[in-house]
Amino acid sequence: MKNYIRLGVNIDHVATIRNARGGFLPDVSRAAQLAEKAGADLITVHIREDRRHINEIDLQNILEAIKIPLNLEIAANEKMVSIAKKFKPHSVCFVPEKRQEVTTEGGLDVYSNIENLKKIINPLLDSDINVSLFIDPYENQLIASHNLGVKTIEFHTGSYANAINNKDKLSELKKMKECILQAQKLKIASHAGHGLNYENVSLIASIPNIVELNIGHFLIGEAIFHGLDNVIIKMRKIIEDAIK
Ligand code: PXP
Repeated sequence: MKNYIRLGVNIDHVATIRNARGGFLPDVSRAAQLAEKAGADLITVHIREDRRHINEIDLQNILEAIKIPLNLEIAANEKMVSIAKKFKPHSVCFVPEKRQEVTTEGGLDVYSNIENLKKIINPLLDSDINVSLFIDPYENQLIASHNLGVKTIEFHTGSYANAINNKDKLSELKKMKECILQAQKLKIASHAGHGLNYENVSLIASIPNIVELNIGHFLIGEAIFHGLDNVIIKMRKIIEDAIK
């Protein structure tokens, strides 16, 4: 049994609240520092092409404010890769991005876009930045990612988190487990995230071989009621209890 899962705290939605008014408050890098102090192992942010939450100034400020690694989520195109090269985060997670979507609705279709993705991600695979791909737990997507030479996958837990009944939830969980087992055989590290909260995180955390979870929206929302530090501490405890 593993004994640790890294918790990446996604602070995008601190910026969403800031952007609702413009200006500087709430201060995104202050949230990053508080998350670090409360036990986050990394800070995750998604710099979107439309900059609806984090922007380049935030990226710079966060990098200066924290000692823990920064995980940068970006769309798979050359413009966003040039931003990653400029800011040199610890890791980059390629995610699909559509302007009209409210949030990242599904995983990257690596299987159908392998040649294009190869051109885009190769410069980062050759750098010190750890590269991961955000995919749905499907075998064809995993194999295609492996063929690209990627050593880390973040599995999209949205279908599991949004399942409307227990049967569907357990069937999504089964898919996730099978894919993560296969990832291990391919020597690929498995991360997971999207839609995780206090209630649904344990079943994901207890899957053997998951080494990192990235959680954002729930934590920032819950922080309104209990404070960001308290909700991170509580999430950590739930994850730790799940892997005991
Ligand atoms: N991981 C990735 C790759 C994401 O794009 C997101 C945000 O959609 C998350 C994790 C966190 O999801 P949530 O905000 O639902 O916790």
